[in-house]
Amino acid sequence: MPSSRRSSQPRDQTCVSCIANRFFTSEPLGQSKRKSVIAVSFIAAFLFLLVVRLVNEVNFPLLLNCFGQPGAKWIPFSYTYRRPLRTHYGYINVRTQEPLQLDCNLCAIVSNSGQMVGQKVGNEIDQSSCIWRMNNAPTKGYEEDVGRMTMIRVVSHTSVPLLLKNPDYFFKEANTTIYVIWGPFRNMRKDGNGIVYNMLKKTVDIYPNAQIYVTTEKRMSYCDGVFKKETGKDRVQSGSYLSTGWFTFILAMDACYGIHVYGMINDTYCKTEGYRKVPYHYYEQGRDECDEYFLHEHAPYGGHRFITEKKVFAKWAKKHRIIFTHPNWTVS
Ligand SMILES: *[C@@H]1O[C@H](CO)[C@@H](O)[C@H](O)[C@H]1NC(C)=O
Ligand SMILES: *[C@@H]1O[C@H](CO)[C@@H](O)[C@H](O)[C@H]1NC(C)=O
Ligand SMILES: *[C@@H]1O[C@H](CO)[C@@H](O)[C@H](O)[C@H]1NC(C)=O
Repeated sequence: MPSSRRSSQPRDQTCVSCIANRFFTSEPLGQSKRKSVIAVSFIAAFLFLLVVRLVNEVNFPLLLNCFGQPGAKWIPFSYTYRRPLRTHYGYINVRTQEPLQLDCNLCAIVSNSGQMVGQKVGNEIDQSSCIWRMNNAPTKGYEEDVGRMTMIRVVSHTSVPLLLKNPDYFFKEANTTIYVIWGPFRNMRKDGNGIVYNMLKKTVDIYPNAQIYVTTEKRMSYCDGVFKKETGKDRVQSGSYLSTGWFTFILAMDACYGIHVYGMINDTYCKTEGYRKVPYHYYEQGRDECDEYFLHEHAPYGGHRFITEKKVFAKWAKKHRIIFTHPNWTVS
């Protein structure tokens, strides 16, 4: 409590005693009893207010202490400071136009990588307070490895049509999931010319309970700015696209107390002797993960810089409470 409030207490007490003095000493004797009854009631009321106020001053900090602590002993991070509930102004609900409210304890970010196959971490993932998935990554049929719950799904504008192939599942059955869609302004504009925004608008008309948010233009340039700051490279000039993983990390670092990333490979994985060759996605056969990473990293135009991004994630993991497992990263 600020000290200025405490210093006002003695003044209140002086006032009470001066009123008491006025009633008890300067009133001539012989006045009617009614007056003294009123006086006593006045004093009683004053004392009551004073007590209420003192109790409040004493109790508020205690209450805040009780509720302000994260009940998070089980979280594998030692740092226990917790920011208050957060509003994320860069993400706007398509139906209500309200910003996203999201505040998580331990988040699980589940990679779409073939690394998830056979990991049997589904139960562990489902115990996290917020479970994040990307694009159209399925859980049905993969529960044992990837878990069954999804709280937030970060989706690329290019993957929106994939969700719309199965809208009853994504927007009705999975109606507790929050969808965060990222995309360039030309596709996301709200004036009727944004092709992806129009699809989403139609979706919330059909599924009014769907929780769909779009990333604002300002937030998109912020994410580009972070890439430039971290790599020294201008994304547009280098002819690349940020990945859905990039957008996921930026929001998750704002919304989560701690992050556990499952199934993401590090920047040197594909150059490591005897690495595990897996499909690019756990739910699709064919493409090989490391082939895909090299292809993208060196594509002159239109690729994702997955390897560069992983280097940045490792750097963030040193400052934030982020751990990577399956495969494990050593970040120190
Ligand atoms: C959400 O989905 C469940 C399961 O399909 C359904 O029973 C429920 O009515 C849905 N809730 C809303 C608000 O649409
Ligand atoms: C990976 O990390 C987890 C948790 O930190 C640990 O339990 C596990 O033994 C590690 N696995 C390997 C292969 O090092
Ligand atoms: C990156 O992954 C490889 C293969 O799993 C591992 O040997 C190496 O220690 C990891 N490097 C870091 C910095 O985590």
